[in-house]
Formats: sequence, structure tokens, C-alpha cells
Amino acid sequence: MTDSPARQTVLVVFGTRPEAIKMFPVVHALRADPRFRVRVCISAQHRGMLDQVMAIAGITADHDLDLMRPDQTLDALTAALLTGLGQVMDAEKPDWVVVQGDTATAMAGALAAYYRKIRVAHVEAGLRSHNIYHPWPEEVNRKIIGTIAALHCAPTETAAEALRAENVAPETIHVTGNTVIDALQWVTRRIADEPALAAGLGELEARFAGRRIIGVTSHRRENFGGGLEAIARAIRTIAQRPDVALIFPVHPNPNVRRVMEAELAGLDNVALIEPLDYPHFARLLAICEIMLTDSGGVQEEAPALGKPVLVMRETTERPEGIAAGTARLVGTDPARIVTEIFTLLDDKEAYGAMARAHNPFGDGKSASRIMELLANAG
Ligand code: UD1
Ligand code: UDP
Repeated sequence: MTDSPARQTVLVVFGTRPEAIKMFPVVHALRADPRFRVRVCISAQHRGMLDQVMAIAGITADHDLDLMRPDQTLDALTAALLTGLGQVMDAEKPDWVVVQGDTATAMAGALAAYYRKIRVAHVEAGLRSHNIYHPWPEEVNRKIIGTIAALHCAPTETAAEALRAENVAPETIHVTGNTVIDALQWVTRRIADEPALAAGLGELEARFAGRRIIGVTSHRRENFGGGLEAIARAIRTIAQRPDVALIFPVHPNPNVRRVMEAELAGLDNVALIEPLDYPHFARLLAICEIMLTDSGGVQEEAPALGKPVLVMRETTERPEGIAAGTARLVGTDPARIVTEIFTLLDDKEAYGAMARAHNPFGDGKSASRIMELLANAG
């Protein structure tokens, strides 16, 4: 097939697990539409966790920079990203570069595109905590991307409003919903068709039968140096209850592993496991009573499934889950975390008030909206 002259080249850039999860619906949509020539560049800022998503989504990258280094620093990573992504842009000469969220890859992708005067579309635009150290360094990454982007795909009206408040041109801001809901719905359909995709937790589910499952994730850089230890102490205390079991897929960052393994290894009802692929994580979301997390994406998925989510952060750029009542900020103080978990476990009314399914983050059609916006922007 020859390229029609109107066909746009879109370079989709991502590098970490959450970007891949939120970007695969966009790649699927763009690749299915003849108006686009789609090129995918992964920085592989994450390796194993990124590859897990690529495999389930069935996406092969056209460019793989393979940049992950053990315990990488922000400056070395950012420098390598800028150079590597710039070279790919020089080779591909895209009409658009699409980035997602607030990672180093997304920020460097936007900056490299700006240096070449290539238009940038930002997926999940407009999230703001208004504190540049929470989350760190993501709040500044997003602001940089927001300054550069020509198309801002805001997941919610709150996010769109935050961009307007920063004097972003209103005609470039569109509320599309968050593609994480597209991803969650897609993976749920895949599991329904092929249950074996999420059957790998079977042994653990049998071991913990009759116990109340709490799912845990934790990886935030701003929690290094004290915060992670506090979180681990809270988990130890929660695990003293014989009626609960905690399933904790541990982020491979050595700073996280070191603490969690030192504090939690060997506890009978705490399963420290490898990062789960997306279908298995969806299974964990389905079987747990409560999620305890400092993750961004989990704050969006849990409300969609009506799972109470306690957020181990001081502030959040995703206030919609709090407003909907399914998410609550609990910080990293162990006593507070334990109290909040015990309240949810012991007070049916408190649990019921949080365990209601809401979809403040999207309706599962975000990727097709983003595709149409790109097509119409020419
Ligand atoms: C990154 C993002 C953060 C996002 C998070 C999602 C930045 C600055 N941070 O943080 O916004 O919320 O991803 O998880 O962009 N590692 C592995 N295997 C993997 C992935 C990571 O071994 O598959 C280890 C490596 O030692 C790596 C380290 O984790 O150096 C840190 O990875 P990095 O991407 O720099 O930071 P995250 O904390 O994962
Ligand atoms: N996730 C996963 N396996 C895991 C833990 C999380 O697939 O073991 C998914 C989760 O469903 C969510 C995303 O990874 O979509 C969140 O990634 P992470 O917490 O690493 O990053 P953040 O969202 O905080 O940027």
C-alpha cells in the first residue's frame, strides 16, 4: 500500500509500565485507522515491567532505546532520553509526537519534539497537585509538557480547568477521559475470553482462602528515605490480624525492594511477589477488599471497580477519586494507615460508603476521541 499524501505520521513515545498501559489503547486505535502512519518508540526506561505490557497488548516497538540501568538517576536517565528520542525523531520526522502522563520519558519526548518544532499531543494532560515535590519529579514534568503541547487531552474537567488556569489556549484543551479505563475494560474482556491469562494467582488465592485480601503497591520516589519504612511498619501491624492477607507485588526499584524485603519477608500472611502483568493485576483488583497504594494509576482503576483505595500520599493530583468517595488520602504515618485499614475492615458502613463503583476518570472511549482529535488537527 502506498501512503496517501494526507496520511499523518504519528510517533508514540513511552517508557514505563503505566505509560504503556495507558498508551496501548491509543496505539491500537491509531494502528487500526488508515489516516495514520504509526511509529512506536519505547525508551525502555522500565524493562521487565514495560515488556509485560507490550506482550499482553500485542505491540512491537519500531524503536527500542533500551535505556534502563539499575538504580538509575534522574539526570543520567533524562540526558540519555533526550539524545535517544531526538535521534528517533530525526529519523522518523513525524507530524505529531504523542506522550502520556508525567514520566521522564514523557517529559524528554516533549522537549526533544519541541527542539525540532514537532507538534506534541499530551495524553492525560492537566493533572496538578500544585506541589512540585509531591509527586516528585512528576509535577514539574507535567508542567513542562503542558507548556509545549499543541493538543492537551485532559482526562477530566478538573484537569482541563487546571490547564485553563495556566493560560493554555482553550481551543487546544479537550476532555477525553483517561485511557486507563479503556485499558482496564480491554483487559477485562481479554480475561473473560481467556481466563488462563489471569489464573496465575490461583495458588496464592488457595493459600489465603477465607482471609480478607488487601492489595498493596508502593514505589514513589518521594517516599524513599523514611516513607517506605513507615509503610512497611504499617503493613507489619496490619498483618498481625489473622483474618487478613496482604498481596504485594513489589516494584523492582532496588530502593523499594531493599526496604520491603528487610521488613516484611517471612510473614505468613504477607505475599511479597514479583510485579504482576496487567491481567493478573486486574485479578488482584477483583479479589481484594481494599487497595493500599501510592500509585497514580491504581487511584483511577480502583474507583472504576468500586474498590476502596487508601492512598499513601500527602496530596493527590487525582482529586476525582476522593470526591467520588472511593479514594482517601492517608499519608505515610503508620498509625494513620493502620487505623484507616482497620476501620474499613471492621465498620461495614464505612466500607460500604467507599465501595461504590464510579467512573470519574472515563468511559472507555478515550482512545478513539484522542485519535479523532489528532485526525482533525491535521
Ligand atoms: C518511574 C516514573 C514514575 C512512575 C513509575 C511507575 C520517572 C522519573 N519516574 O518511576 O513517574 O510513576 O515509573 O512505576 O519517570 N526497574 C527494574 N525493572 C523494571 C523497572 C524498573 O529493575 O521493569 C528498576 C531499575 O533499577 C530502575 C529503577 O527501577 O533503575 C527505577 O526506575 P525509574 O523508571 O527510574 O523510576 P520509577 O521509580 O520506576
Ligand atoms: N500494575 C500492574 N502490575 C503490578 C502493579 C501495577 O500491572 O504489579 C498496573 C496498575 O494496574 C496500573 C499501573 O500498573 O495500571 C500503575 O503503575 P505504577 O503504580 O507503577 O505507576 P503510577 O501509576 O504510580 O505512575
